Amino acid sequence: MIITLTGFMGCGKSSVGRELSALLSFPYVDLDEYIVHKAGQSIPEIFNDGEQRFRAIEAEAIRDLVVMDEVSESDMVIALGGGTITIPSVQDLILNRTSCIYLRTSLETIIKRLGPDTSSRPIFSKELYHKRLETYEKAAYSVDTDGKTPESIAKEIKNILYI
Ligand code: S3P
Repeated sequence: MIITLTGFMGCGKSSVGRELSALLSFPYVDLDEYIVHKAGQSIPEIFNDGEQRFRAIEAEAIRDLVVMDEVSESDMVIALGGGTITIPSVQDLILNRTSCIYLRTSLETIIKRLGPDTSSRPIFSKELYHKRLETYEKAAYSVDTDGKTPESIAKEIKNILYI
């Protein structure tokens, strides 16, 4: 079983992912870290060659992981990047072959969490947040995260999935 966490930058995908992986004893993969390793470049460096190149590597990365998991029939928690689910070529894969959870978080909380320096996230903007909401709602499950700790969100996800 693959559990994927989606939601806007700063919604807590990585911290909840780590908690959930510990709670379930499932291996944890951070897709952004996987991409950095695969490309041998930082995310801003990849974006320097254009967003299209980043999305191509990102799509290949999530495909790698889903196939790898199906071959080994194992379990995994994956923190997606904020834009992974918006890539048309892999959206169905994420929605149909993984248990996808949307970490629904207000813009106020996100801005508070990220702080003033968003340089590691080259395309962060408030407009993008609003534009993406509809896509995130396609996830099979959603959890409101405002005011909650990663630990309590992880427990909520475990209950939602009956595992
Ligand atoms: C992106 C989110 C980032 C990273 C890249 C693009 C996006 O991941 O993949 O900067 O398009 O929303 P996080 O959501 O983990 O910050």
